[in-house]
Amino acid sequence: MTQNTYLDSFRKTFEISTEKMLEIAYGFRQAMEAGLQGQESPLKMLPSFIERPSGNEEGVFYTVDMGGTNVRSTKFKLSNRGFERLGEVKSRLKDPDGNYDYTNENTSAEMLFDFFAKNTEKLIQQGEQQASLGEGPKLGHTFSFPSRQVGINEAYLIEWTKEIKVAGVVGNNPNKLLKEALQRHNIDIEPVAILNDTVGTLLVAQYTHENADIGVIMGTGYNSCYLEGKHPLTGKEMIVNMEAGNFNIKLPLTKYDIEIDKRSVIPGAQLLEKMVSGYYIGEIATLIIEDFYANKAIFDDTDSMNKFRSKKIDSLDVENYILYPERTTHVLGCSLDDAMKLKDISKSIVLRTARLVVATLFGTLLHIEDNEIKNEHVIAVDGTIFEKMPNVPELMQQAMDELTRSPNKIVFKLVKDGSGLGAAIAAAVAEAKSY
Ligand code: BGC
Repeated sequence: MTQNTYLDSFRKTFEISTEKMLEIAYGFRQAMEAGLQGQESPLKMLPSFIERPSGNEEGVFYTVDMGGTNVRSTKFKLSNRGFERLGEVKSRLKDPDGNYDYTNENTSAEMLFDFFAKNTEKLIQQGEQQASLGEGPKLGHTFSFPSRQVGINEAYLIEWTKEIKVAGVVGNNPNKLLKEALQRHNIDIEPVAILNDTVGTLLVAQYTHENADIGVIMGTGYNSCYLEGKHPLTGKEMIVNMEAGNFNIKLPLTKYDIEIDKRSVIPGAQLLEKMVSGYYIGEIATLIIEDFYANKAIFDDTDSMNKFRSKKIDSLDVENYILYPERTTHVLGCSLDDAMKLKDISKSIVLRTARLVVATLFGTLLHIEDNEIKNEHVIAVDGTIFEKMPNVPELMQQAMDELTRSPNKIVFKLVKDGSGLGAAIAAAVAEAKSY
């Protein structure tokens, strides 16, 4: 095979046709409906116990947001459908220089949640110069992992995703662990709500877009939620966290996806997430380049390949390959032709991501509208893949229009910081309910 035919046949394995998107969409809808009825399904369809916010939420709230690689403590003031960020402290769970790592199996639940409490302590210290802590403040906690929710303030971690392995959290309520850690640090703040980041994203979008009924995270991890009109548990509206990253029906898995799954700490799980999310995209690109090299389809000299191997490729590199092939030639010491191949490969990965995600979102719309999509919808999206990867919003819009055949009936809106602000809204909703 010549170098170019290798590239062509690779491109084909990454293509997702309209028919394939429809097939995935129908499978997704079926899985949603099975999961909602409590039948076996790759979609966990987890209730959030949160409905559409009224817009009258008011007050000052703390939040803790753990999504994977960082923890963020924030203080927000909510009023008149608006907000003010009064302070924020962000810490990495894993030191890039290797001095500590709060994501591995040697970390206990106490260690992890003490780390969160210390982060909140820093935020309080920062705020002391401005204002006092106030009366018994409340906190919303965005915990972005599959958790079986039994109330707005009670959830149990089902399993870790995004390759986190901290011991002693699975099966426990992260809000109880957080409360105990805050108490150990003599911090008088009470967690009152726990939610998924997709739910936070949707809550924030609902403040400004009446038609927003789907929330999506395309970041380190992948997931979506939607507003169920009549939830089987309550007969009322409720946001449902689908844990869409675990979807696995009719996915066009390539040999690279199968390899990534095998190497993962959770083989067999989160198959869609492993195809589309920031945590894995760099690894997919690495496997493809290794395969091209083994087949003499890229880099004539070993030097460039060694340079490529010497760093762990992440989603930012993939983005750079697309945007700056000239820079790639300098970084890897390769020809422009090779850099263009890296660009091509990266674009195929990104295009596949956009089309797979849209297929599942179309499936969600088919469920909401019961087959014929008559209404306009706003899909709220947060995460670096949507925000930073070249052309992703446009590619998603194109794919959606291809499926609805009605341009811009469904639109995507970037919602920044849904996981932070959404947690403050959820805390306010919980407070309003308790009176
Ligand atoms: C988690 C979800 C989360 C998503 C985005 C996934 O790995 O299972 O709960 O919403 O990442 O952060």
